[in-house]
Amino acid sequence: MSLLQVDKLGVTYPGQSQPALHQVSLSLARDELLVALGPSGCGKSTLLGVLAGFIAPSQGRVLFAGQPVTAPGVERAVVFQHDALLPWLNVHDNVAFGLKLQGADAAARERIVADTLRLVGLADVATKRTWQLSGGMRQRVGIARALASRSQVLLLDEPFGALDAFTREQMQQLLLRVWQQSQRGVFLITHDIEEALFLATELVLMSPGPGRIVQRLRPTFNQRYRAGEDVRAIKSDPAFIALRESLLHSLFRQGHEEAA
Ligand SMILES: Nc1ncnc2c1ncn2[C@@H]1O[C@H](COP(=O)(O)OP(=O)(O)OP(=O)(O)O)[C@@H](O)[C@H]1O
Ligand SMILES: [Mg+2]
Repeated sequence: MSLLQVDKLGVTYPGQSQPALHQVSLSLARDELLVALGPSGCGKSTLLGVLAGFIAPSQGRVLFAGQPVTAPGVERAVVFQHDALLPWLNVHDNVAFGLKLQGADAAARERIVADTLRLVGLADVATKRTWQLSGGMRQRVGIARALASRSQVLLLDEPFGALDAFTREQMQQLLLRVWQQSQRGVFLITHDIEEALFLATELVLMSPGPGRIVQRLRPTFNQRYRAGEDVRAIKSDPAFIALRESLLHSLFRQGHEEAA
């Protein structure tokens, strides 16, 4: 069964004549990694905001486990486009923060935090303050915090956008490991075509004016990576390059149509 179900969603911000989202339908199951790809302003963060319960639909509906989403909830954890860590807390306490609010007992909390920090490779820096970390480490703290909560879905808004190419590729592989081990549905936003193709079990290409889905793909590169194939071999495979170029072409065409 789908964890998240979006039917004919429309969002128009107050005072705007053009909708930010129009007739967007999609679903996310527990074993899926759904990627929304599209240029700036096509409504990706708006869509994530609706899934998270921060923004109310103007049309259509959004269901989580069959129930309408009307507010944020612990079952839907968010990693923001710009990290939202608490600078006065160390890495351990940032990851434990949500669990504390949820009233988890101390022993359970310590076990979950230790396991999660190990999973994202941050066990050695647990007592550091977040401002002492690199950008990639900060993003891992954000992901660890989302994982440590009792979430069933992770909503990730462009989580690797500010990272260098090498760190970004490492983070993509980390995300696949985490997704596989944690058995959660992941909704990921990106404007990086390679990232989208490599990670997605389902990929939706979005277009602005109004924000909508213009293409859907089910790439298999994620499966190939999990079956043991090397990441560079996958990304330089002619099938990968052909899809990458086709998506790039679609994005450029969108740009021309908008400029016309
Ligand atoms: N609070 C708001 N009030 C009015 N308009 C908004 C608001 N937030 C976003 N918009 C508009 O809605 C459209 C979609 O914005 P959104 O932030 O969802 O795009 P995005 O795809 O996430 O872009 P980016 O890749 O730059 O993050 C844009 O035209 C934006 O200007
Ligand atoms: Mg955005």
